[in-house]
Amino acid sequence: MDEDAIMPASGEALALDTRESYDASVATLGAWAHAYYVRDDPVVSDEAYDRLFREVAVAEGAHPEWASAISPVRRVGGDVLPGFRKARHPQALLSLANVFDRDGVQAFDRRVASALPDPSVPRFVVEPKLDGLTLALTYVGGELVRAATRGDGEVGEEVTAQAVTIRSIPLRLGGGGEGVPPYLAVRGEVTLPRDAFARLNVAREAAGEPTYQNPRNAAAGSVRQLDPKVTAARDLRFTAYAATALEIVPEATGSAPLGVPATAEAGGVRAVPGSAGVVDRLRPVAAGASPFASHWDALRLLDAWGFRVNSKSRACADVDEALVALDELQAERPHWDEETDGLVVKVNDLATQERLGSAGKDPRWAIAYKVSVSDVVVTRLLDITVQVGRTGAITPLAVLEAVRLGGVTVTSATLHNADQVQALGLMIGDWVRVERAGGVIPAVLGVDCDGSRRDGSERPWTFPVDCPACGSPVTRDADEAVARCAGPTCPAQRAARVRHFVGRSAVDVAGLGANWIDRLIAAGMIDGPADLYHLTAAQLRGFEGQGMGDVLATKLAESIDRTRTTTTLGRFLFGLGIRHVGAETAEMLAPIAGSLGNLLFAVAAEDRDARIAAMHAQALETRGIGLVVARSFATALADPGMHTQLERFAAGGMAPVPPVAPLEPLGNGPLGGKVVVLTGTMSQSRDAIAALVSGAGGKVTDSVSGSTSFVVTGEKPGAAKVKAAGRHGVAIISEAELRTLLAGRNG
Ligand code: IVH
Repeated sequence: MDEDAIMPASGEALALDTRESYDASVATLGAWAHAYYVRDDPVVSDEAYDRLFREVAVAEGAHPEWASAISPVRRVGGDVLPGFRKARHPQALLSLANVFDRDGVQAFDRRVASALPDPSVPRFVVEPKLDGLTLALTYVGGELVRAATRGDGEVGEEVTAQAVTIRSIPLRLGGGGEGVPPYLAVRGEVTLPRDAFARLNVAREAAGEPTYQNPRNAAAGSVRQLDPKVTAARDLRFTAYAATALEIVPEATGSAPLGVPATAEAGGVRAVPGSAGVVDRLRPVAAGASPFASHWDALRLLDAWGFRVNSKSRACADVDEALVALDELQAERPHWDEETDGLVVKVNDLATQERLGSAGKDPRWAIAYKVSVSDVVVTRLLDITVQVGRTGAITPLAVLEAVRLGGVTVTSATLHNADQVQALGLMIGDWVRVERAGGVIPAVLGVDCDGSRRDGSERPWTFPVDCPACGSPVTRDADEAVARCAGPTCPAQRAARVRHFVGRSAVDVAGLGANWIDRLIAAGMIDGPADLYHLTAAQLRGFEGQGMGDVLATKLAESIDRTRTTTTLGRFLFGLGIRHVGAETAEMLAPIAGSLGNLLFAVAAEDRDARIAAMHAQALETRGIGLVVARSFATALADPGMHTQLERFAAGGMAPVPPVAPLEPLGNGPLGGKVVVLTGTMSQSRDAIAALVSGAGGKVTDSVSGSTSFVVTGEKPGAAKVKAAGRHGVAIISEAELRTLLAGRNG
């Protein structure tokens, strides 16, 4: 709705020609606006609203004496003010002490525990901590008489004329003010929702005006405007988070009134008769006299009186429930349509709040839970490209209009996989929400405003059927989210493999950037990482035509050479880019591999299958290595390409440093290489039998897996182990059978 644009020209025909029809129309508009701005649930079309608004405005023009205090015409903003008046708050506006983790919340619970009443009412309320501008509203006789900014907490600035333009601030409270205390303070936050913020900045940029840094600054800047029409034009939102009943200070002994009472001149507020002057003589009633049973109850009443209250707030029986609420809300925070700078935990019982009081500027009954969430910004999706990874995985990548995010300029973000693009319903040209969580690669969260910002120029995107680098078909296993390039010689895969190999966490070849890798591959000088060790300085210098100078060529040859003898075997294994083998698991696999020579020997030997199987078994026995990694390692070793590659590394003089203590190979003996699980009571202690097994070259482990050779059952064997043996197809034998094997007989 845009009342500003539909103000009537003077002299229009009068549709509302009686006071009654005018008043009824004002009330109707109030109800419609409440549905739209507070409930987010419009009940009529914008056109219908605008039509009636216009009639009301025309009637007011013809009969200024009809003008109602709750007329929506006030929402378009009054005259420009000469300056801001000071306003003393009837109750100091406190700030909040921060806690940064669950321990902080538990410590808070311990501090307040002794003051809390019997747990008949929920002990805590957990709320979003909206990141905007605090506003303190004063209602007299159910009508808004003053709005003030926080200032120093004691004295703020009066912004009533600006506040009346914020549609979610009720001008008069619920249905004629029934049940509303005669004097009421309402506090809350003015925010600019993310999409409104984005629109505002787009418009400002187009107009050559400076853009706002963040929604909080934009909200504050929009309220602190001497021209209320500017405030009116911003899609600001007010969310109430506290209410206090006030009373008149019996005798005016306190400080002299600072503000001039709100009148039609001072900000255009038409206060109820008798309210003038009163606003500066108010103070909170004692908790015992409060019309609110609890903070939660106050929120419920604020809602009933027409305020927007945060639908995310939760009443929690105890600290455990509060912690659950904090976790859940924390996870939701990035998806909310307005920014928060934390969550708030408040003691629910008002008498307890009063008893706890405050320590300096911080109440003892509330804390701010400040665990940062990732930053989210809105920007334009300019294009979607795909990246081919070292395993051929094809990842869609969002090309973004440059945007500041978490302190860096972001121009691209991952889209994870094809399903993601579909699930998010992205179209090229969309406004998208982008998140950067704690230093990781930015990711696209979704289309901003559910696509309502689309103008028809957006284009759909489809996943490529051929690899953009080599033209091979893109394949996708039914059980995999990832699409892969099936090309065996795909240059993009090769480049990705080399990039991975020379990367910081792998072999760390200084000075070999992505650009040079692409060019070396394109020039046919390298096919994979092992070829780097066959490049000579002379060859690299000969690459000069491509822009590699003498100095650079020498340096690069040197840094490659350095890695021949300084790379640890773990880093080397990680550098091979075996699927599922991360930097850490590679370190764990290193003792199993032993050395490059050992590995090469294993994959080249006649009994290579047995050797690889033994390494597979050893991997499985290593703490921290699971089935997937062990299988992937074994599969990679069995690949004929691995043999060729390792040979080429060795021939190039690559000699990774072996781990300090290579694992003792499984022994020889009647149980050589066997992995045994014991369960149930046997004729000797478990330790004694385990010693027998290892003496015969085998090994005893605790849990049954695919690599278990057999399970030995004594009396009352563990059901889980027997079951697991069945699941993995592992043989079950008796103690007697084990003893036969130990004796070296085969049955
Ligand atoms: S309670 C005594 N509740 O956070 C309690 N404050 O540090 C004081 N804020 O600028 C405020 N959301 O405007 C409370 N749900 C919420 C809030 C909230 C945002 C702001 C508040 C003030 C700051 C307090």
